[in-house]
Amino acid sequence: MTITKSTTSTMKAVVQVGYGPPDQVLKMQEVDRPPIGDDNVMVRVRATSVNTPDWIAVTGIPYILRLQSGLRRPKTQVRGTDVAGVVEVVGTKVTDIRPGDEVFGSAWAGSQATPGTFAEFTVVPANQLVAKPLNVTFEEAAASVMSGITALIAMRDVGKVGPGSHVLINGASGGVGTLAVQIAKALGAEVTGVASTKNLEFVRSLGADHVIDYTTEDFTLSEPRYDVILDNVMNHPPSVTSKVLTPTGMLIPNSIGNSGGLMAGLLRGARAALLARGSTNVQFVKCEVNREYLDALATLLRSGEVKVPIDKTYQLGDTADAVAHMLGHHARGKVAIRA
Ligand SMILES: NC(=O)c1ccc[n+]([C@@H]2O[C@H](COP(=O)([O-])OP(=O)(O)OC[C@H]3O[C@@H](n4cnc5c(N)ncnc54)[C@H](OP(=O)(O)O)[C@@H]3O)[C@@H](O)[C@H]2O)c1
Repeated sequence: MTITKSTTSTMKAVVQVGYGPPDQVLKMQEVDRPPIGDDNVMVRVRATSVNTPDWIAVTGIPYILRLQSGLRRPKTQVRGTDVAGVVEVVGTKVTDIRPGDEVFGSAWAGSQATPGTFAEFTVVPANQLVAKPLNVTFEEAAASVMSGITALIAMRDVGKVGPGSHVLINGASGGVGTLAVQIAKALGAEVTGVASTKNLEFVRSLGADHVIDYTTEDFTLSEPRYDVILDNVMNHPPSVTSKVLTPTGMLIPNSIGNSGGLMAGLLRGARAALLARGSTNVQFVKCEVNREYLDALATLLRSGEVKVPIDKTYQLGDTADAVAHMLGHHARGKVAIRA
């Protein structure tokens, strides 16, 4: 693959200078624009959003993850994977995207973003971009990507949710949860959302048929049985959560971060993995980005069946605050960044 340097050379980017609290390690700097390969597209970033892998990479905790991300300092300096923006330059082999197109997609490459989207420009493989639906903002489009694809894979492909399925979403008011509630409804399911008191009406407004207030009720002790449980919080051991599944029901454990600390989350994940080995009723979901998923997401956004609730939009220069907001684990929908 030929790697060429883009013609104009620099841009503003939020550079991660070490591991730690976002306000101490994320600095806006003038850096070189990333090089663009034959199959790549350079996008003028109009919006991006924050996901769990971003804040985990920024804090560098748990330390064991630094074995992969860089022991002393992060190998990847610019974080962020979700993107919506305007095409600036295309690689020599890209024939179906043109400069000036409005696109959305992801720089996600299985672990972290290379080169990253918390910047004025990013470079993304062409097959990880599609046309942005005209009826959504750049912020909504960007914020839909990782959370929406994760929710789509969980509901449609892993959970095989369809008309009449009874689905419970734990963590229904967060980034993945809000989109999962709407996708499950679009697939015809009866949906129960678990959230705190202040978010119950919000979760209902997304289409949930029933809500459970986790501050007063433990859903694992509830009467109903569910065909699919998407657990974005994992504040109960997976063996306990499984007790409210139907005999053929499916538990989808999907959290390492937003309850009880990262180590606790990793341990619960390990227990779920053990359970998954001996059972077809437990399956993980892994976000992958390709045009099939992006097109499916775009169709849901275009039809209005899925709307992207944005809790707060930050400017690129305030990316550290956006990441800190996610670290609080109580975002209501998505946290967006305008570049
Ligand atoms: N599998 C994948 O590829 C993949 C991709 C992306 C994300 N994820 C995982 O998905 C999980 C959710 O991500 P996210 O972006 O949705 O996180 P998030 O936006 O930070 O989730 C915040 C939400 O969690 C809720 N919450 C916190 N404690 C809760 C509790 N005890 N019970 C119920 N809800 C609770 C909060 O609701 P209240 O404010 O009402 O408390 C808030 O709305 C993360 O753990 C992440 O690791 C996985």
